[in-house]
Amino acid sequence: MSERYVVNGQTIELVLGDITDQDVDAIVNAANSHLAGGAGVDGAIHRRGGPSIMAETRRKYPDGCPTGSAVISTAGELSARFVIHAVGPIWNDGNSGEPALLASAHQCCLELAVKSGCRSIAFPAISTGVYRYPVDKAAAIAIGTSAQFLREHSTPNIIRFVLFSPNAYETFATALRSITTP
Ligand code: APR
Repeated sequence: MSERYVVNGQTIELVLGDITDQDVDAIVNAANSHLAGGAGVDGAIHRRGGPSIMAETRRKYPDGCPTGSAVISTAGELSARFVIHAVGPIWNDGNSGEPALLASAHQCCLELAVKSGCRSIAFPAISTGVYRYPVDKAAAIAIGTSAQFLREHSTPNIIRFVLFSPNAYETFATALRSITTP
């Protein structure tokens, strides 16, 4: 399963799969503000990347990372060069600043990727698991923020969303189609 959309010569693509299998310059972690590790994407990244990732984030970011922002580390044993640890919002009622925080988490990841010379980046569906953000609303923000970023920047060449279930994939595909259909 895969789907793509070209914006300004660069590609947004959707795949069904596991974020830790992605052969890209940077993979994005769905982290918490203490950078303390956890379940879901966070658990998978630290498990497969090994202990050096946590050792580095503890050393470089002892105060963690605020919600709506992101920090970067190397990627240990993963095939990516970097892990970008993004902290999405916990879904409350949708009126507590969640959309702006989710957009800014994506924006920060893309800015860090550009700063670090990444040509490809893979995102999970940040906030849609433990943090309970509704997938359709999260997809619209993730895709919309990425498309806008590519209109304004010449890198990264590939922004990939890695969806863990067919349902999440279909929801992101609907969001992607809605920006590609005039
Ligand atoms: N690859 C891709 N997607 C995955 C993977 C994986 N290996 N594992 C889970 N997912 C999906 C989930 O199905 C969900 O749709 O990623 C999405 C995000 O889920 P979470 O990992 O739970 O992230 P989030 O909702 O942002 O919650 C972050 O959870 O694990 C803790 O430490 C983390 O406290 C933080 C919180």
